[in-house]
Amino acid sequence: MVTVDSVKIIELPKFTDPRGNLSFVEQLNHVPFEIKRTYWIYDVPGGESRGGHAFKANQEFIVALSGAFEVIVDDGQQKKSFTLNRSYYGLYVPAGLWREMGNFSTNSLALEFGSLHYDETDYIRDYDLFLKMKRNGEI
Ligand code: TYD
Repeated sequence: MVTVDSVKIIELPKFTDPRGNLSFVEQLNHVPFEIKRTYWIYDVPGGESRGGHAFKANQEFIVALSGAFEVIVDDGQQKKSFTLNRSYYGLYVPAGLWREMGNFSTNSLALEFGSLHYDETDYIRDYDLFLKMKRNGEI
């Protein structure tokens, strides 16, 4: 069963330059899966939270391109919180965990890579159902 211990902060390459720094990611390298989708969350009012759900199969890789926010992951037994506030760190979140993003700073920008195309049937949006599926070993 997937636990919060499999959530990892991954340090990305960083080219420091007086003209501006540069970082990048490659699939199956820094991002440990094939990237099928990229999306971003922006114009979030300061302090807002979003994304209280789990994925049955979609894996994610989250980068705070700008500003800061918190990602809280939960495996039904244990919770862990990660603060992302540098654009050269990524957070790998495997499928099968409840995750929420919160405490967005004003003007923050969250970039997310997914291992699957958008599919509403891959979402678990009900926390009690998530706990039940976790207990039954379904996710
Ligand atoms: P959702 O993942 O539910 O965001 P949150 O959990 O943070 O509220 O996405 C919000 C809406 O955006 C969702 O109802 C459908 C749409 N959406 C897509 O069409 N494609 C995507 O790749 C994503 C992430 C969302």
